Amino acid sequence: MLNLVIYPDPVLDKVCTEVTIFNDHLKSISQEMFALMYKSNGIGLAAPQVGLTDRIFVMDVDNKKRVVINPKIVKETGLGGIEEGCLSFPGIRVKVDRSMFIDVEYYDESGALVKEKLSGLEAICFQHELDHLNGKTFIDILSSTTKSFIAKKLERQKREQRT
Ligand code: CO
Repeated sequence: MLNLVIYPDPVLDKVCTEVTIFNDHLKSISQEMFALMYKSNGIGLAAPQVGLTDRIFVMDVDNKKRVVINPKIVKETGLGGIEEGCLSFPGIRVKVDRSMFIDVEYYDESGALVKEKLSGLEAICFQHELDHLNGKTFIDILSSTTKSFIAKKLERQKREQRT
């Protein structure tokens, strides 16, 4: 059973490593990640958010499920952005600048190379999850004062949930 990692946690800062073995274990991990993502009402979930450090994330925007492994953005245009949420930051929303059109390459869970053009929410979600694989979260654009305020708020929430 995978559990959701809530900020602050050192695993969220880890740069993840390339996946080299495409096997049944990888498939079952991705299925468990989908299950946890749906249970948490998210549209994307990346490996560090479940305590893993492999370059894999799952996403489901507009009922299009994707298992994304070793992702790359090969071209990006069009500056935009929305207020984003993140399952590792319950209740926090941050407006982030993103590219609105991206050409991407990644491998699916069976090891097949996928090339796609994404736009809008799909493009935003892909960039948000790819940042996680590089140890970055959506609050990295904020000042250190705001970040420590958010950290304290989430730690307080965690403590209150336990009691
Ligand atoms: Co996130």
